[in-house]
Amino acid sequence: MRSSGYCLLRPAICGAASCSAAVPLLPLRSPCQRRSSRRRNSRSLSVSSSSSSSSSSSSSMAARDIGGFLSKQPYHPPSWASHLRPIPSHSLSLGHLPTPIHKWNLPNLPEGTEVWIKRDDLSGMQLSGNKVRKLEFLMADAVAQGADCVITVGGIQSNHCRATAVAARYLNLDCYLILRTSKVLVDKDPGLVGNLLVERLVGAHIELVSKEEYAKIGSVALADMLKRRLVNEGRKPYVIPVGGSNSLGTWGYIEAMREIEQQTRLSGFQFDDIVVACGSGGTIAGLSLGSSLSSLKAKVHAFSVCDDPDYFYDYVQGLIDGLQAGVDSHDIVDIENAKGLGYAMNTAEELEFVKKIAAATGIVLDPVYSGKAAYGMLKDMDNNPAKWKGRRVLFVHTGGLLGLYDKTEQMASLVGNWRRMEVDESVPRKDGTGKMF
Ligand SMILES: Cc1ncc(COP(=O)(O)O)c(C=O)c1O
Repeated sequence: MRSSGYCLLRPAICGAASCSAAVPLLPLRSPCQRRSSRRRNSRSLSVSSSSSSSSSSSSSMAARDIGGFLSKQPYHPPSWASHLRPIPSHSLSLGHLPTPIHKWNLPNLPEGTEVWIKRDDLSGMQLSGNKVRKLEFLMADAVAQGADCVITVGGIQSNHCRATAVAARYLNLDCYLILRTSKVLVDKDPGLVGNLLVERLVGAHIELVSKEEYAKIGSVALADMLKRRLVNEGRKPYVIPVGGSNSLGTWGYIEAMREIEQQTRLSGFQFDDIVVACGSGGTIAGLSLGSSLSSLKAKVHAFSVCDDPDYFYDYVQGLIDGLQAGVDSHDIVDIENAKGLGYAMNTAEELEFVKKIAAATGIVLDPVYSGKAAYGMLKDMDNNPAKWKGRRVLFVHTGGLLGLYDKTEQMASLVGNWRRMEVDESVPRKDGTGKMF
């Protein structure tokens, strides 16, 4: 079914899984409560079917009253960001927000250093991770422009592409993904590992390109090429850039800073530093601008997993200039190189680190983004303990766990811990619960 409007196919009950997953810093409001405070004046603007039948409008009103998940809301920025331009007119509720913040008992921290973790990996299920915050603004724009499909671009295990595919399907938009892979795999079925399984289950159209083609033509021209093809077929595509990192998407993490401000306000709790992975730049642009403008004033440390810091200082500058922020990226964020062997490539030491942290704290990091950022942070704490001594650090876990499934072969030797149970078959059966057990 294709429509130039959009309809709520599955009014979703707003789950509070993210709120119960960890010890919260403050009693967390459910996503339903957050929506009602942040986006109060939304009565007439819920996502509705293109049909104006009273049953569809009453079901979209019910969806809004049930919690507002997937509803379109007028957007009002925090007062400290109200001078930025342009201000998005609307956002769509896609994430399970607020995500919890809790203490992270990492081993071997410098004296007096505390690390806390913001669980953006719990921002939803198929929509999990940092991308959902950007998509709340980008998908609202796609819908407002009357798009009937979205195009986006990424690596073969792009979390952003998976989140976009799911968000698009929720909104009854088709999704076209341009995925970059190796020259030897570009003409083959890409398989079902990790993010690909979700993308293919929700019916995204996958267009493979080789790394060489990607490097030669670039993501913008590739998306334009596909856009022209779809326009010629009578479609109305909306292009979302790599990682959702444009100035509009940057609002997602400006909003996340409002969320952190609200979560910490009552306790008077202050973070000195915020640490996060950087892949396409939008997350750090929003976080660092939000931190510098809000009452938080935490120092933002970004660990780049692909390009060099200079590239990202420039890229972030472009994003914040696009919001007329009038600040220099060098003054609001510190960017370190944590790329190691290269994007999506890991040393044995990095993978061992991911395993060690999971075993010590229960937090599963993805090896491509948060794993490298946490590894870089702890290495820096080890090398420069004086810099971090006594500081209260908030690490933002940006998700990406489906990408772990692409690393199972490399991780197999690290995980261990299984054995065949010794069974004495002569022991008589005792019935357990239910007929099957
Ligand atoms: C799981 C995960 N973490 C972090 C990032 C980096 O965020 P950004 O692209 O906004 O720099 C990405 C995407 O690039 C990601 O998929």
